[in-house]
Amino acid sequence: MRIAFIDGSPKIKQSTSGILLEDIKSSISQQAECIDITMHKQKLSDIQLEQLKSVDVFVISCPLYVDGIPGHLLSCLGQLEETFKNQLQINVYGIVNCGFYEGQQARYALNILENWCIKTGLIWSGGIGIGGGGGISQMPNGPRVPINKAFQEMGNNIMQKQIQKNQYVSIAFPRFLYKVAAQFGWRQLMKSNGGKPKDLNKQW
Ligand SMILES: Cc1cc2nc3c(=O)[nH]c(=O)nc-3n(C[C@H](O)[C@H](O)[C@H](O)COP(=O)(O)O)c2cc1C
Repeated sequence: MRIAFIDGSPKIKQSTSGILLEDIKSSISQQAECIDITMHKQKLSDIQLEQLKSVDVFVISCPLYVDGIPGHLLSCLGQLEETFKNQLQINVYGIVNCGFYEGQQARYALNILENWCIKTGLIWSGGIGIGGGGGISQMPNGPRVPINKAFQEMGNNIMQKQIQKNQYVSIAFPRFLYKVAAQFGWRQLMKSNGGKPKDLNKQW
């Protein structure tokens, strides 16, 4: 079986979407052939299109942007729709991570991926919405246990091309501490870009 692991974050380095793909890969049997595809830009190359035509499964991992999927990814999916429409039997699994603590926030983005599958004639096979995505790249394995459990189940389903229901998980880390860490992180980021915390209250 050939599986395309698609990173749909616009970040070229250290995206949470990419980290999560590496995690789910470890739940996939070694008999499968894994192909890495990055969708960081608005258009897929001819080589990428050819690669995607030769696989049995897509695993699309992306961040949640304004309750949907990133615009550049939507553009790539539109390109795939034109190329693939009703031609291929590919199972599609989705992983959407978000900054909010609750994985449920990703439900509409998973619906978007599902609708795209219906329109393109691909087989929507279920997804996982992951909350607490903003902290995953800095966390050790412990808080990621609930995510890895969900990946284990998805990994088994992928190997059997089985359809699963959408699932929602979050990090095993207290919600209030996650919020405190996020506030701290934003302030640091603001300072490193020359801003001040009091700018947050500015009337523009
Ligand atoms: C433009 C933009 C819009 C976002 N919209 C949401 C949102 O609606 N809900 C949410 O929970 N997180 C939102 N986020 C946070 C990202 O989903 C979160 O940081 C994610 O972990 C980034 O994943 P990545 O590293 O794979 O790109 C947004 C981030 C950006 C940059």
